[in-house]
Amino acid sequence: MRQLRQRAEMGLKMIDLIVHNDKEEWEKEYSKLCAQNRSVLDTAKKGEKEYSDSLGWLDTEEWANETALKRVERLALEIKRNANVFVLIGVGGSNNAARGAIKALQQAGTPEIIYAGNTLSPHALNNMLKKLEGKSIYVNCIAKNFETLEPGASFRILRKYLKERYGKKAAERIIATGTAGSSLEKLCSDNGYTFLEFPENIGGRYTALSNVGLLPMAVAGIDIRMLVQGAKDMRKELYEKPAEENIAFQYACLRNFCYNRGYRIEMLASFEPRFRYFYKWWIQLFAESEGKDNKGIFPVAGEYSEELHSVGQFLQDGSPIIFETFLDVKERQDSLRVESDGLADYFDYLDGKDFWCINKKAYEATVAAHKEKMPCFTLEIDGLDAYHFGQLFYFFQFSCYLSCKMMGVNAFDQPGVEAYKKWMFEALGK
Ligand code: PA5
Repeated sequence: MRQLRQRAEMGLKMIDLIVHNDKEEWEKEYSKLCAQNRSVLDTAKKGEKEYSDSLGWLDTEEWANETALKRVERLALEIKRNANVFVLIGVGGSNNAARGAIKALQQAGTPEIIYAGNTLSPHALNNMLKKLEGKSIYVNCIAKNFETLEPGASFRILRKYLKERYGKKAAERIIATGTAGSSLEKLCSDNGYTFLEFPENIGGRYTALSNVGLLPMAVAGIDIRMLVQGAKDMRKELYEKPAEENIAFQYACLRNFCYNRGYRIEMLASFEPRFRYFYKWWIQLFAESEGKDNKGIFPVAGEYSEELHSVGQFLQDGSPIIFETFLDVKERQDSLRVESDGLADYFDYLDGKDFWCINKKAYEATVAAHKEKMPCFTLEIDGLDAYHFGQLFYFFQFSCYLSCKMMGVNAFDQPGVEAYKKWMFEALGK
């Protein structure tokens, strides 16, 4: 019941596009854009041939089915029993989803998760190694084609470290997630590491609901079954609802509408700091999928209240190039009342109020202020838990695909990322 209620209550609540004299004209234009793009939704749902090598995430049953979940759970149980540190080696799509969920939802008593493979800074790498001293360690290297320098170099260092610490038994503590037939799989079979499959038909940033995202999440004690259920329910909703009631379609249309109106930056903002690393996943998803052919909306994140006191000035008063999507959690997650300590600090108006309500008032006030300047939307979720993270992952992946189609770009390639690699490989003599 709870799941159904939650599903029914997740929605994109459309706050006035903007407080403007020409509101009517804007609404007319938005409706026209929706009508023009209606076919985009149907085409995407069917699974286009053109992108068949990248759509393995569309149906969660393909890579997050019962067999896959059982294997991940078994492996996670072994790691939780034997490790107090789990090193997640990966960069971009290979670690962002897991990190986003883990930083928000990790359960007490589970191994500390340490991230590697996303930097080449010796200072950061030495710090990472220091954190391993005296701990029982497991390592998971996640790399789709195992050519990316950052995870490859970190994996080398960590294999050597583990060998020095555990000798021949090091192999029992190494898991690698790579595509079938890749050099990473060969490394596993040659050396006795555990191998998990990285879906060949999913690009990194769309892999939250596969071995890539699910194993680290399960090690952190996240209920991956609830997470997958959330994604499945969201999929069902997005497949069943017609365009005019379809929140992914609406969100994609709103983004394109803003883009056509000259807004070049989208800020995903929330008053819940637990979303900090989820933003990073979202930023990668949209930037790498949409930013090509000289097009795209630049995604940024706003961690409120903090950033109201910094970029808040620009938002309210600076160049009119930004629109804002708020992520709002409906159910009370926690509680803390402000009590008086008897001193005259002139904050008496807060006496007896709960921080949950104060934070909500700050959110409402921010929307009221910002919508005087820019288009503001709110994406409202009922709770902040594994189920809703599953919903969000699926919702944004699907919306991103639609949004890219409307913009006329390929959501699944990343030719721009190759440019720096070419120069770097050349400089390093690869
Ligand atoms: O989303 C993507 O495709 C990229 O961000 C990749 O995930 C990232 O470049 C890492 O690639 P790999 O897993 O091959 O090391």
